[in-house]
Amino acid sequence: MHIAHLTINTSARIGAINPRLFGSFVEHLGRSVYDGIYEPGHPLADGDGFRTDVIDLVKELGVTAIRYPGGNFVSGFNWEDSVGPREERPTRLDLAWHTTETNEVGLHEFQRWLDAVGSELMLAVNLGTRGTPEALELLEYANLAQGTARADRRAANGRAEPFDVRIWCLGNEMDGPWQLGHRSADDYGKVAAQTARAMKAFDPDLELVICGSSSSSMPTFAEWERVVLTHAYDAVDYISCHAYYENTGDLASFLASGIDMDHFIRSVTATADHVKAVRGSDKTINISFDEWNIWYNSRYENVDKITGVDNWPIAPRLLEDEYTVADAVVFGSLLITLLKHADRVTSASLAQLVNVIAPIMTEPGGASWRQTTFFPFAATAANATGIALDVTPVSDSYPTERFGDVPLVDAVASLDESTGSIAVYVVNRAVDAGTSLEIDLPSRAHPGTYAVTARTLSDADITASNNRENPERVALADNTTVSTDGGVLRIDLPAVSWTEILLTPQNPVTA
Ligand code: AHR
Repeated sequence: MHIAHLTINTSARIGAINPRLFGSFVEHLGRSVYDGIYEPGHPLADGDGFRTDVIDLVKELGVTAIRYPGGNFVSGFNWEDSVGPREERPTRLDLAWHTTETNEVGLHEFQRWLDAVGSELMLAVNLGTRGTPEALELLEYANLAQGTARADRRAANGRAEPFDVRIWCLGNEMDGPWQLGHRSADDYGKVAAQTARAMKAFDPDLELVICGSSSSSMPTFAEWERVVLTHAYDAVDYISCHAYYENTGDLASFLASGIDMDHFIRSVTATADHVKAVRGSDKTINISFDEWNIWYNSRYENVDKITGVDNWPIAPRLLEDEYTVADAVVFGSLLITLLKHADRVTSASLAQLVNVIAPIMTEPGGASWRQTTFFPFAATAANATGIALDVTPVSDSYPTERFGDVPLVDAVASLDESTGSIAVYVVNRAVDAGTSLEIDLPSRAHPGTYAVTARTLSDADITASNNRENPERVALADNTTVSTDGGVLRIDLPAVSWTEILLTPQNPVTA
């Protein structure tokens, strides 16, 4: 057994946790929309054709804002194709994923689905094959109350009140050579700045996200951020980060993926703050980590990629990764990393939501189920509210090929000041043994005892997963080893595990 120790100090504040940290992403890709959230022939479909079992799971997951409609898809998308009478909407090719887009679900339908799941729309504009004029036209269509041809067209299309989209992405992954309309940082920075200034001329309170790097291993990483922010600093509010991790056989490094995410966030905030200093600005640019997840991208590149001039399927099975316990533990550790930067990461999107690298899976005409990654997300989204607290643990380290020596245990906590409740999130990266964790509780803040519960995700078989045949093989389980003794909490963390500990004050705080 390894040992680890941490202290909860309610003064060690990182920052307020923005609910948008628990956002997600729906792209017109594979079976995310069609045969995912939307399946009119399904016995559980509602009047709009949306699966109510999926709506219930999305609500249970607790996603706050949903980025839409892409992703790589948005860089070749004409938004006008997806509004108006369905029978008049054109069928188009999607060059990003080599599929056919029917446009059966568009902006209006997606907003109705968002209303059903209770999430905010985060809308991306196409700065790949299109530019500033089309972005402005979409903005006017979506957000102007009435009185112009576009606003009136929206009303005629069934939506009298504006969509009032508050947060917008200025394109997608424009640093990536795979992106339609990919360009240099200088060229993209100019287009993004021009588009952002024009959008803010319409509404200065819009929140705009400029594209950062598609991963920290991009050859242009950090210089891309410096250049695009130098062009657009005054006009944008966030810079994006995207990161996907996969187990390539080096489990030790995979379990330490949070180290890369941490380095990514620190590098981008440093670069943004450098531009701020050079400009003498008093405005701070925050991070929208609007694509993050485990993704077996090598499987897509080598096996599933669609090709062929005459081969453009509708809603094929693409990027349908089946997540293991080890994947979910790494996934949970990424959530810990995001929370450790809650002061600067004020928006994030789990990519994606249904069927495509997703926490929720469906079968056409059949069942839906929770992947292993569903559990850390749902627990954290439900309970990590209020202020993020720095609780940096003391633990042994282990060697990794990619990141050198890495601490076995990582953790973060949150404090809800309205209730005094504290949530602690801990990952144990040890593969050889469990870790006995001791936590010094903030007993002076709450002189009474805390009611303590803990749930852990782990398994003797770290390759176990949930799937159609066995949809409930993996779930969170109560961790019954948790105990408190005065101001000290003790808990055993199994090897390769993710744990949530909830502390609820039993006596009201007295002045
Ligand atoms: O989420 C899948 C894809 O990953 C997105 O379309 C793209 O933005 C990223 O490369």
